[in-house]
Amino acid sequence: MIVVFGATGTIGAPLVTALLAKGAQVRAVTSDASKIDALKSQGCEAVVASFDDPDALAQACAGAQKAFLVTPADLDMRSWKANVIAAATKAGVKHMAISTGLGASPKAGLTFGIWHSESQELLKESGMDWTLIQPTYFIQNLLWQAGNIAANDVYLDDLGGPISWVDARDIADVAAVALTSDGHAGKAYGLTGSQAVNGDEIAALLSKATGRKIVLQHVSPTESHAGMVASGMDPAVADAMVQLSGLGPKGYLAGIETTVSDILNRPARSVADFITQNSAAFKS
Ligand SMILES: NC(=O)c1ccc[n+]([C@@H]2O[C@H](COP(=O)([O-])OP(=O)(O)OC[C@H]3O[C@@H](n4cnc5c(N)ncnc54)[C@H](OP(=O)(O)O)[C@@H]3O)[C@@H](O)[C@H]2O)c1
Repeated sequence: MIVVFGATGTIGAPLVTALLAKGAQVRAVTSDASKIDALKSQGCEAVVASFDDPDALAQACAGAQKAFLVTPADLDMRSWKANVIAAATKAGVKHMAISTGLGASPKAGLTFGIWHSESQELLKESGMDWTLIQPTYFIQNLLWQAGNIAANDVYLDDLGGPISWVDARDIADVAAVALTSDGHAGKAYGLTGSQAVNGDEIAALLSKATGRKIVLQHVSPTESHAGMVASGMDPAVADAMVQLSGLGPKGYLAGIETTVSDILNRPARSVADFITQNSAAFKS
């Protein structure tokens, strides 16, 4: 049994699909009871547990041999991950794959790298076998502004440089392999796409997919921070987001890792294909 925390999210949802396709027994965890029926209809077990409910987390882990852990980017993400790691350790889970972020390490200089590293080190100290899944920016983030692109024909770029975007379905596929085959314990997998794509190129791809002229609009760090806080994000998390995106104009978010193709024996999914596949979302 593989228990998946964050099972309805950007990585977790395709991971559940990928694990079931491999014939794995899966227990999907959600904090929202209204999602249980839809999860079960896919052919997995489904349980309700909040990241801040140790008893429910213990029940979610009971009898599982392996676990996948991702949480939203949140001020509480370190304590949430610590709670899940503690519950899994106590329940006798043997191997956990944890999704953090590219560059997370004890030497990290950025807030997200430091926060993610703390969780990684906790997992390493737990006694469970571990695999670190460390993605860069998700291509799926483009959907956050799909409504605005459709309504205003504007692509808002707060990254200001080339990004080696990775598709969350590739993150999920790598995690599924790590949890269903041997040889992935003790490994850290940095995950990117196979090419870096900048804001102008994304605007051009959106224009092609929608048949309309989509114009690039740069968003300053101050505007970006204000927008995230206005949408409900804790200011400290918004600080961390802006700090990370500040690497974009310097070209530091353009590095390519070959892990996706190395592990999956196929090319990483591309930004161009994602935009084409999701063109309806950018049109209406
Ligand atoms: N987006 C990026 O570009 C990017 C890049 C690199 C790293 N990351 C990292 O990736 C992570 C986010 O991954 P993601 O997008 O897959 O996550 P996500 O979709 O934001 O969240 C995963 C799931 O967590 C569940 N959840 C929320 N609050 C919960 C709670 N209190 N208790 C239990 N479950 C709860 C939600 O499901 P329910 O509603 O079903 O409970 C949600 O579907 C963050 O750590 C972020 O730093 C993101």
